Amino acid sequence: MARKSTTYVCQQCGASSPKWSGRCDACGSWNTLSEEAQADSPPKGLGKGKGRKIDFVGLKGGEAPVPRRISGISEFDRVCGGGMVPGSALLVGGDPGIGKSTILLQVTGALSKGYRCAYISGEEAIDQVRMRATRLGISGASVELAAATNVRDIISSLDTADTPEVVVIDSIQTMFVDALDSAPGTVAQVRTSAQELIRLAKRRGFSLVLVGHVTKEGLIAGPRVLEHMVDTVLYFEGDRGHQFRILRAVKNRFGPTDEIGVFEMTDGGLMEVANPSALFLADHRDDVSGSCVFAGMEGSRPMLVEIQSLLAPSPMATPRRAVVGWDSARLAMVMAVLETRCGIQLSGNDVYLNVAGGLRVSEPAADLAVAAALISSLQEAPISQGTVVFGEIGLSGEIRPVGQTEARLKEALKLGFKRAIIPDRRRASNQSRKGIGESGLDVIEIGHLRDLPDVFGSAAQDARAPQAGR
Ligand code: TYD
Ligand code: MG
Repeated sequence: MARKSTTYVCQQCGASSPKWSGRCDACGSWNTLSEEAQADSPPKGLGKGKGRKIDFVGLKGGEAPVPRRISGISEFDRVCGGGMVPGSALLVGGDPGIGKSTILLQVTGALSKGYRCAYISGEEAIDQVRMRATRLGISGASVELAAATNVRDIISSLDTADTPEVVVIDSIQTMFVDALDSAPGTVAQVRTSAQELIRLAKRRGFSLVLVGHVTKEGLIAGPRVLEHMVDTVLYFEGDRGHQFRILRAVKNRFGPTDEIGVFEMTDGGLMEVANPSALFLADHRDDVSGSCVFAGMEGSRPMLVEIQSLLAPSPMATPRRAVVGWDSARLAMVMAVLETRCGIQLSGNDVYLNVAGGLRVSEPAADLAVAAALISSLQEAPISQGTVVFGEIGLSGEIRPVGQTEARLKEALKLGFKRAIIPDRRRASNQSRKGIGESGLDVIEIGHLRDLPDVFGSAAQDARAPQAGR
């Protein structure tokens, strides 16, 4: 009989070690080791006994496309890759209070028109969920509601012939398997609970949605293993101070990643935002310096956002660099290129950079827009009205072409922009050259960063000309 032993499991990376230490040897994080009882030590090797023979089949199989369960909340459906897939597991992660329970209750409410849906809450009492449903105007929906945390009970209830088609577990950190000694929320519990639920979902063919909390480091609490176990991982993000909430697909076995859905938090729950660019640019004023509109892409969707910068003379030896919504290492790079390759002196200034609206931009294509915002702020010259900018900057100062030029220009035209500063088309591949000619915009192509100040030097003069008072 194997002896019951105790191991210490890192709550960050899932590595286990036989003795406690302050720092995890595997991932280097501090104070993340927690004691977990291990029921039996695993058998050595495979042990005795012959396995069952497995059957191999060809790649070609059922021709039918993956069936999808569509909620009708199109921002959500698109992020899932076109609806939820039967027998799949979806993980929705996000900070506390960001709106995970709200969106999932809305989605189950919408799905319940066509499918049997169950919503199992381990965090809120039935009455609390009902109150929320009333507030969201979906109290009439035929969602089966339960408050439970014991995975054994949940599985027994769901493992029947008429199991629901969509099951939401809110949240996986509150679930526990009574065979394990450790507390709910620990790695062992989260992992085992998820494993059992996912196995049942695959067997019974229901779409499983797991809600996962995010630690302050931004990982789904209970380690990354959870992300490997599920088919789709969505992150719900947003700034508490802003109305927008962004649902972002970071992993999807049934669709593209990098797809985002944009919602607005209102009194009546989360509303879809069909035209996010218009929302992000709502407060944009193009007669101030340091502001530049970046024509970006989020997944398959073009999105225009305003990048703002402010330069202020710094009294300190090491000036401040504060970045919100963009990568600070990339800002350092763009500034170094501006100084070294273009002779634009930024040192001695505190630099503040902000992506308006609480969006996080991760595309390198934003480099040129950031450079434009910095130059505009330095020269105190607004960039001309109705101009969008995009392009990647290389270390020698060259402007590199980026993908999906056509979609970006189209979106800019749709929102009433007149001019675009983009990478030189001679460098571009045929694909990204497509659509430049007939975009309907006044397209200015630049090949090197040093040409940028000239371009909007003239643009700024235009801005002061007739329509300056807009
Ligand atoms: P919730 O879905 O409970 O967040 P999570 O499950 O991610 O922890 O979201 C709660 C927040 O949303 C709370 O701060 C109040 C706000 N809210 C609204 O603004 N309007 C609404 O209609 C609802 C239901 C919530
Ligand atoms: Mg919640």
